[in-house]
Amino acid sequence: MSGLTEHRREQIEMHRQVADMYRRRSGYAFSEAFQQERNDLLLGMTPADDDGLAVDLGCGTGILLDRLAGRFARVVGLDSSQEMLDGYVAGPTARGAVILLRGDMTQLPLRDASCDVVLCRSALHHMDDEVAVLREMRRVLKPGGSLVLGEPANDNVLTRLARAWVRRRPSFGRIHTIDRAYTRAQLRELLARAGLSVVREERFGFLAYPLCDNPDLVPVLKHLPAGLASALGAGLRALDRLLARVPLLRNQSWYAMLEARPVP
Ligand SMILES: C[S@@+](CC[C@H](N)C(=O)[O-])C[C@H]1O[C@@H](n2cnc3c(N)ncnc32)[C@H](O)[C@@H]1O
Repeated sequence: MSGLTEHRREQIEMHRQVADMYRRRSGYAFSEAFQQERNDLLLGMTPADDDGLAVDLGCGTGILLDRLAGRFARVVGLDSSQEMLDGYVAGPTARGAVILLRGDMTQLPLRDASCDVVLCRSALHHMDDEVAVLREMRRVLKPGGSLVLGEPANDNVLTRLARAWVRRRPSFGRIHTIDRAYTRAQLRELLARAGLSVVREERFGFLAYPLCDNPDLVPVLKHLPAGLASALGAGLRALDRLLARVPLLRNQSWYAMLEARPVP
């Protein structure tokens, strides 16, 4: 990790500050259920391969790693923040299949065409040059392999305003470097510029997202009795599943998930 750019240094410092907040999410049942539902969707878009290699880039505290280990022979979780990686506690399904790497998504320590699946949950928007990083993902993907990407969406004016408020909260981290969200068209354009074509899209998170995603950033449900918070979280998630099916509303979600493949 020598020769860091100023942007990389700031990202590492910001994520050092927020690593505990990421770890604490799983301590709240309503937030854990929300994360699990998002992960179910992401994994539902991820082709499984018993003999294959899956890498989770910007894996943070490793929220996807154990479940990936149930579907792939080898799993690599890569992140530039040691404090984030330290938050990963391997469960029984990891079975020694998971390797953690402290590294940089802009220069992956992986061979060309070596990965069956590249996953990236909520990390692309922290990159200085997203197209360069997407090209790096494409480089390591086997032909016919899949990139499964989850990113904050920015198609809705209300979510834009709410996001601006959240960013001002002291718990967000004292250093704010690049932290974007993308419209549907912007995300597709970035992928196309990197030679990746979208084969599937899911939208996720309408009402539950702001209240359940990160209980320390928007501290509302965490102050309610646990049973009530879980029931409210479950109700909001059920409503969200309905909203995700309404054609005119589905693209107004807080979050977008895409599966993309290298263009031959
Ligand atoms: C918003 S967090 C998402 C973490 C995890 N994927 C999740 O969904 O919980 C973004 C992650 O990207 C990592 N990150 C930022 N820049 C990076 C880089 N250049 N290389 C590798 N990881 C990076 C951060 O340390 C952080 O863990």
